[in-house]
Amino acid sequence: MYVCLCHGVSDKKIISTVHKHQIHNINELRKILPVGSCCGKCVRQARQLIENEQLAL
Ligand code: FES
Repeated sequence: MYVCLCHGVSDKKIISTVHKHQIHNINELRKILPVGSCCGKCVRQARQLIENEQLAL
């Protein structure tokens, strides 16, 4: 499922990036993936995905 439609970034891509780069927050994620750099609608969901992965660790 796409989280960021502007840049075609999926939830799977975000989750794998969170693990691979040990991402802790949206700012760290945005250094690697372009989420939120256009309309910004995806930021909330991306943040939620990061939080869920933190809880799962
Ligand atoms: Fe991600 Fe627009 S949906 S910046």
